[in-house]
Amino acid sequence: MGDSFYPLLGNSGYDVLHYDIDLDVEPSANTIDAVTTLTAVAAADLAAFNLDFHGLNVSRVAVNGTETGFSRDGQELTIELVEPISSGAQFTVAVSYSGTPQPIDDPGVPYKALGWHSDQGVIYTASEPSGSMTWYPSNNHPTDKANFTFRITVPDGVTAAATGLLTDEISANGRTTTTWQMNDPMATYLAAVYIGDFERHEQRLDNGLLIRDYVPRGSDASVLDSLAVAPEAIRFFEEILGPYPFDAYGTIVMPFPLGFALENQTLSIHGPDTVYPYVIAHEVIHQWMGDSVTVDDWSHIWLHEGFAHYLGLMFIADFTGQELEALMAGEHLELTAAETSPPGAIQAHELFDFNTVYRRGALTLHALHTLVGDDLFFSIVRTHYDQSAGGNTNTDLFLEIVDDLAGTGAVSLVESWLYDPEMPGIVSGPTL
Ligand code: ARG
Ligand code: ZN
Repeated sequence: MGDSFYPLLGNSGYDVLHYDIDLDVEPSANTIDAVTTLTAVAAADLAAFNLDFHGLNVSRVAVNGTETGFSRDGQELTIELVEPISSGAQFTVAVSYSGTPQPIDDPGVPYKALGWHSDQGVIYTASEPSGSMTWYPSNNHPTDKANFTFRITVPDGVTAAATGLLTDEISANGRTTTTWQMNDPMATYLAAVYIGDFERHEQRLDNGLLIRDYVPRGSDASVLDSLAVAPEAIRFFEEILGPYPFDAYGTIVMPFPLGFALENQTLSIHGPDTVYPYVIAHEVIHQWMGDSVTVDDWSHIWLHEGFAHYLGLMFIADFTGQELEALMAGEHLELTAAETSPPGAIQAHELFDFNTVYRRGALTLHALHTLVGDDLFFSIVRTHYDQSAGGNTNTDLFLEIVDDLAGTGAVSLVESWLYDPEMPGIVSGPTL
């Protein structure tokens, strides 16, 4: 796909429509026995094609139901076709594999291995940006979104959860299989499964949205109470961006601290260390900005994290009765004392750099907001979201919207925040 930070992620030649991920999991041994079936459309005449897949043992690959040859080289799984596939034809590829998934190192997240983890009796996945290939084969780039079905089989009494709607649960021979449907387009990095001893808590919001949260069985009531901020954040962001993008939302809380939270689509992962209002709201806003509207190149990540940090602080200002202006002045002060790089021109290891990407990204949006005022700012944000909902975006597309709605002066201001090595001074008062 030619990603500027991850040249090996993703493959051209086809477009995935659907993933069917069937995982039989033995949690105590941390082993899986799996079949992932992709349904795709060829975008060119294909004699062979690649999937991204790391580790595990592949025992069989079948295309349109017929076993075919394959080879592996690092994260590339090459499928050799007996019969070529013509451009425009729909086909399936089923990959059978087993073993213990191993998380991988990623230059963008130096502090944490990515993908499948087994820790203290719990299995969870945290894949952004590259780790999904540790547990299922895919076209592992956010520009190829697809629908998903997850089928997870675990011993009776163990709880399994995945991103999407729970549509079926069957028990036989001491094992329980749950099925999960993701009916909206999802980037591969946002797919997640969670297995352990969890309680499910469900509620419906007034607008009908399903909220289902998972907490460690026997958690104090205070853990669930702390999650009640998510529906409030959803209502707040719906005012700004329009209806919540997916069929459900929820939070799963691990029984141990994670040091981060992650916006897996419809079911964000947290540890007890991040279930407070700012981080809960941050993962909620990512459902619109990041999950529904996803960057087409990882170098544009400020569009996820700058928006999530800024709108998250906007929620906190409202929730706590503080002035947004004061919160942002505090952010600017913190940054003047720190080293930052411009968020529009980061290097791969700065992907989640809090000062550069989150804070200066948020201040970029705040400078625009201050320059153009509420009405124009919210119509820029809303247009940016509506234009790419369910798909992809990038910085140039955002700047085009700023140009169309607010003109070249606003574009120059945003560009100076995104690209100037020196951080600009804080803008005060609408001047347009
Ligand atoms: N997108 C996450 C957030 O909400 C950051 C995740 C970084 N950690 C990771 N394991 N990918 O800010
Ligand atoms: Zn974030």
